[in-house]
Amino acid sequence: MHDQSPLRAETWPMSRTCPFSPPPDYAGLREHPGLARVTGPSGRTVFVAARHEDVRAVLGDARFSSDRSHPDFPWMRVGEAVFPGFRPSLIEMDPPEHGPARRAVAGEFAIRRIRELRPKVQCIVDGLLDDVLAGAGPADLVSALAVPMSGLVLCELLGIPTSDRQEFTTNTMVLTAHDSVDADRVAESFRSLIAYFDALCAAKMTERPEDLLGRLAGHQLFSGDEGRWAMVELCILLVVAGLETTATMTALGVLALLEHPDQLALLTADPGLTPAAVEELLRFFSVAELPLIRRATADVEIGGTLIREGEGVAALSAAANRDPAAFADPDTFDVTRDNRRHLAFGSGPHQCLGKNLARLELCIVLDTLFRRIPTLRLATPRDELPFVNGSGFSVSALPVTW
Ligand code: HEM
Repeated sequence: MHDQSPLRAETWPMSRTCPFSPPPDYAGLREHPGLARVTGPSGRTVFVAARHEDVRAVLGDARFSSDRSHPDFPWMRVGEAVFPGFRPSLIEMDPPEHGPARRAVAGEFAIRRIRELRPKVQCIVDGLLDDVLAGAGPADLVSALAVPMSGLVLCELLGIPTSDRQEFTTNTMVLTAHDSVDADRVAESFRSLIAYFDALCAAKMTERPEDLLGRLAGHQLFSGDEGRWAMVELCILLVVAGLETTATMTALGVLALLEHPDQLALLTADPGLTPAAVEELLRFFSVAELPLIRRATADVEIGGTLIREGEGVAALSAAANRDPAAFADPDTFDVTRDNRRHLAFGSGPHQCLGKNLARLELCIVLDTLFRRIPTLRLATPRDELPFVNGSGFSVSALPVTW
């Protein structure tokens, strides 16, 4: 067993040099015997799990904690400095609290319930594309399609009036920006979101409409003043977890298909391939890797390395999703691939709660976009696109024409 392998020179998080590839250091970390140790944020040391089986093992092991309030946690807590007492729901909870809290909302994200949203999502995408096509082009698909689609779907899900979409979308995007944003601006957006959802949840608790928050208001975890605060924390998590991720995957998905015309041709010839193409895009980009950080609550052995109680581990899903031991020819973008094992939504008890919704949105938007605008093409060369490579990876604009 490797006990405390020597500290490597790399620091985590790492940056991409090519939009279609994970950070170049990931291959070396995957080949490192046991789990490598690198320098993490604030100079703290973290282990990095990079092989598919090790990432799955970390994410599925209840001895690893997601509770960022612990002083040893190797990564900061969102919003803590701005609003003491605020704790993102679910994603930072451990057992025994996490299970009941997740079960209270899980039914709202079950496949059957999410399928009911299909006509609404289709209508949202069609409306946004009508507006795009009403112009002469070029159009920016991030601001004209990806972000508003994701925001309007969250309005539908949470029963937020669409007139409030612009404000909550703007504030949420400030919180999830991957490049540096002024700390005062982050604090202001965070406070605005809390005030907004506090008022919304109070109204839902009184009026009990037939929507997600109205139904949750009947649950014992969400009753009384404490329950209302728990509902506010849940709303903030849902918009933070659901808005930017889905918007980024939409934009990167369009980009990847435009840059791989042979794969796009397969898709347009057989729209039945879209769900498989969406899984391949999720695997290929693995954009939501940063939340996959944990702290050991006991000594645990992973991949032959002993991780001692209190030490941190980053589970590199983008490295796992390119592991040749799990995926044949992993750097090839192949929309026909069997992708059941990808880890883009995480794994284990915290696996993405919104995965069915994200899949629905991505299938509908990609299908509809390439069906309605078959001549779609980039209006800016790929190398000049504004990729954001900071605390995460995204593209802030995608100019297209047709
Ligand atoms: C393509 C889009 C998305 C990606 C790639 C993604 C990815 C992820 C990942 C990797 C996790 C695991 C975090 C961890 O283990 O610590 C996660 C958790 C979560 N996601 Fe998503 N997500 C997406 C969209 C959404 C949407 C649309 C929603 C809801 C509106 C959502 C809600 C959540 C929630 C609530 C959790 C926490 C679950 C828990 O801790 O029990 N996500 N997501």
